[in-house]
Amino acid sequence: MGDGPHAVILAAGQGKRMRSALPKVLHPLGGRPLILYVVDAVRAATGTAPVVVTARGEAAVPSLLSDAAVCVEQEGALGTGDALRSVPHALRDPGPVLVVHGDAPLLRPETLGRLLAAHASSPRACTLLVGLPADPSGMGRVVRDADGHVLRIVEEADLPAGEPVPMECNAGVYVFTGAQLWPALDHLGTANAQSEYYLTDVVALLTGPVEAVVVADPDEVLGINDRRQLATAEAVLRRRTIEALMLAGVTFEDPASTYVDTQVVIGRDSVVHAMSTLRGATTLGTGCEIGPMAVLTDVRAGDGVVVGPAHLEECELGDGVRVGPYCRVRPNTVLASGVELGTHAEVKNSTVGAGTRISHFSCVLDSDVGEGVNIGAGTVTCNYDGEAKHRTTIGDRVFVGTNTTLVAPVRLGDGSYVGAGSFVDHDVPAGALAVGRSRQRNIEGWAARRPMQS
Ligand code: UD1
Ligand code: CA
Repeated sequence: MGDGPHAVILAAGQGKRMRSALPKVLHPLGGRPLILYVVDAVRAATGTAPVVVTARGEAAVPSLLSDAAVCVEQEGALGTGDALRSVPHALRDPGPVLVVHGDAPLLRPETLGRLLAAHASSPRACTLLVGLPADPSGMGRVVRDADGHVLRIVEEADLPAGEPVPMECNAGVYVFTGAQLWPALDHLGTANAQSEYYLTDVVALLTGPVEAVVVADPDEVLGINDRRQLATAEAVLRRRTIEALMLAGVTFEDPASTYVDTQVVIGRDSVVHAMSTLRGATTLGTGCEIGPMAVLTDVRAGDGVVVGPAHLEECELGDGVRVGPYCRVRPNTVLASGVELGTHAEVKNSTVGAGTRISHFSCVLDSDVGEGVNIGAGTVTCNYDGEAKHRTTIGDRVFVGTNTTLVAPVRLGDGSYVGAGSFVDHDVPAGALAVGRSRQRNIEGWAARRPMQS
């Protein structure tokens, strides 16, 4: 990919403050591991695949990033300066090098672009991003001289007691001139509160001006160190995602109670009602109406789809599909256009043809249902015999009466009928009527002869 400025993302820290078995940069945010936001922003700003420094023996990050980045290992977690020293000599470019922390998922590519442009605007050793976050705790502070040039960065734990604390915080985003950076790394020491090699100490070792660019949106400098910051970042991303969708023509009844992953796509004039959750690779067409209280995960829906308070997962819905309240649509289900599910219906691992209606309380599992079928309320496909799952096949224009039990494997031919309340464990030929139930018997005068209850 391209030959823009080099970039390095530091992602080898232990993430101790997360108190987690999962590496910090793999924690999900807006439905994706948070490192992916950093990699995407860096790639968009530089046009090159970044070098990502990962912890030794930690295979999950390189396998996630695959060929989106070049991963190199840091031997031990000895600090951000040591992490940068792990970049092999063959990858050390003397030109501009963008360095970004892997735990800063809210950075915008435009901000990185502005930093790169500022660095190129005059000869300098480094240009760094500073912010004024609402909560600056734990962040390094930027010390400038009277002319605004950066003198050094002081970590919070190393701030001299009794002196005024600088307001500006180090975002952990730098453009270095490589010819200056790489040799300076050899002069870092560990005489600090954390006994680590601080990248921030490099700033004072450079010869040549170090300048700062202030980021307008303080959210962008949020680093994820613990789960409180993870929740803060989630809220910011959610707001950004919903705002972008609203500007693109989607109505949200109550954005504050609605959860939308960053990858979700929704067409114009769709309406999302309160307390709904849209996750993963969900894609909705135009004019859809979702919720309230719907939960959709990896759903692909066409235009004009209406979903009540229902749970849908890994399924495809054609144009005009209507899913009633309290339905559950489980993975590997395809509902063709115009399909209607009544209240409390469940469908799993099935294909359902155009215009078919599956009425309330029905359970259609492992089935292939044709077009224009009517499945009466309370019908169940018995897919499991205790050992294996079997399929039910229903042809086109079949009418299945209410409260029918279909024991798979079984086939109902095109245009066949099944009487209400039937138990069907034999195939039904096309055009036939199946009645699989005991005949009703009326016993005259029974009530009068009924034995009295004691
Ligand atoms: C760091 C900065 C601080 C800045 C803040 C911005 C230093 C010494 N401090 O503090 O000035 O305000 O970020 O959020 O740089 N990492 C490695 N290897 C290591 C240690 C860290 O790759 O040995 C990576 C981490 O995975 C993380 C990033 O570097 O993505 C920053 O490390 P972290 O420990 O979070 O630094 P902060 O304490 O936040
Ligand atoms: Ca951090």
